[in-house]
Amino acid sequence: MKASVDSAKCTGHARCNAVAPQVFTVDDDGYCSIGTDKAVPPELEAAARAGAANCPERAITLSS
Ligand code: F3S
Repeated sequence: MKASVDSAKCTGHARCNAVAPQVFTVDDDGYCSIGTDKAVPPELEAAARAGAANCPERAITLSS
């Protein structure tokens, strides 16, 4: 799995980081800092899904 954040949509809620800090890093202002196509290992895929689902801006995309 790969995770990407759309920086145009991210408004810094940091809920992704609160739910899944192993996957979603944030910068000093609380904006998701994973960039695009960050590799997610199999053991963290459930966490990645939960983090993406908790983003109120729907800024996170997961792909296989
Ligand atoms: Fe941004 Fe959504 Fe996370 S707005 S900081 S991607 S919860």
